[in-house]
Amino acid sequence: MSGMNIGVLHPGAMGVTVAQTLKDSGHQVGWVSAGRSLESRQRAEGLRSFTSIDEIAGWADAIISICPPHGAVPLARAVHATGYTGLYVDANALAPSTSLKIAELLGAGAYVDGGIIGPPAIKPGTTRLYLSGHHAPAVSAWFSAGALEAIALPKTGVPNGNVAASSLKMAYAAYSKGASALLLSVNALAEAGGVREALHQEWAISSPDLLKRSEYTAAMTSGKAWRFVGEMLEISENYSSAGLPDSFHTAAAAIYEHMSDLKDLPPQNLESVVAALLKRSQGDT
Ligand SMILES: NC(=O)c1ccc[n+]([C@@H]2O[C@H](COP(=O)([O-])OP(=O)(O)OC[C@H]3O[C@@H](n4cnc5c(N)ncnc54)[C@H](OP(=O)(O)O)[C@@H]3O)[C@@H](O)[C@H]2O)c1
Repeated sequence: MSGMNIGVLHPGAMGVTVAQTLKDSGHQVGWVSAGRSLESRQRAEGLRSFTSIDEIAGWADAIISICPPHGAVPLARAVHATGYTGLYVDANALAPSTSLKIAELLGAGAYVDGGIIGPPAIKPGTTRLYLSGHHAPAVSAWFSAGALEAIALPKTGVPNGNVAASSLKMAYAAYSKGASALLLSVNALAEAGGVREALHQEWAISSPDLLKRSEYTAAMTSGKAWRFVGEMLEISENYSSAGLPDSFHTAAAAIYEHMSDLKDLPPQNLESVVAALLKRSQGDT
C-alpha cells in the first residue's frame, strides 16, 4: 500500500504516538500548529506542519481527531467548516451519542468511530485503538507497523454497532477512571473527618493494597485530571442514555474538576491531591 496523507489533530501525549505508528506504517503525517503549546510543537517534530485546519484539510486523505473529549465536537465543526470530504476518525473518549453527532456533522459515510485503551503507545503490546463503522477494517489496515495496535470491532447487528468503539471505551473508563476518582475521594473524606491516618492503619490490616493504590492513583491522575472531567461527563451521558443511574460519573467529573489546578505540575503525592480535593493549600490545617 502506498502511504496516505493523514492529519493528526493534535499531537498530544497519545496523539503523537498515533502519528508515529502511522509513520512507521509508511504514511505521511501532518499536524496544525495554530493555537498549540510549545509541548505540542516539540512533540510534533518530524511531522509535516500546517498553519491552519483549512490548509491541512486540503492535503489530507484522512484526519484523526485525538484531543481532550471536550474539544472533539468543536474540532469536528472546524474541520467540517473547511469543506473537507475525506475520512474522519474520532479516537476520543466520547459517549456514543456524541460520536453519532459528529458522524451526522461530517457525513456518516466518511466517519469512523474510535476509542483508545492503554497508555501512549511507545511499546508494542500496550495500547489498542478500537474502531467501528463501515470503514473500520480499512482504517485498521493503516496501522500495519509500529506500537499502536488497531482493532476493527465486528459489526454487532445492534443499532449502535457503528459506534461500538465508543461504547467499549466508555465501559472501560467508567471503571478505571471512575474507581480512581472514588479512591481519591475516599481519602479526602477520611481527611475531612480527621481519620485518614486511622483509615490507612485499618487498610494496612484489612485491604493492604489500597494505600499503595491511593498513592499510585494520585501520581497517575493529578496532571491529567483536567482532561478527565469531559470524559466523566461523556460516561455519565452514556449511563443516562442506557437508562442507568448517571450520577456516579457526574460526581467523578466534579472530583477531577477539583484537581484541575494540578495540570502541568509533576506527578503529585496523595497529600497534595487530598488538599486539592478539599480545596485547601498544603499549609492549612
Ligand atoms: N494519554 C493517555 O494515556 C490516553 C489513554 C487513552 C486514551 N487517550 C485519549 O487520547 C485523547 C488525547 O489524549 P492525550 O494524552 O494526547 O492528551 P494531551 O497530552 O493532553 O494532548 C491533547 C492534545 O490536544 C490539544 N488540545 C488541548 N485542548 C484542546 C481543545 N480544547 N481542542 C482541541 N485540541 C486540544 C493539546 O494541545 P496543546 O496542549 O498544545 O494546547 C494537545 O496537543 C483523549 O481523548 C484521551 O481520552 C489518552
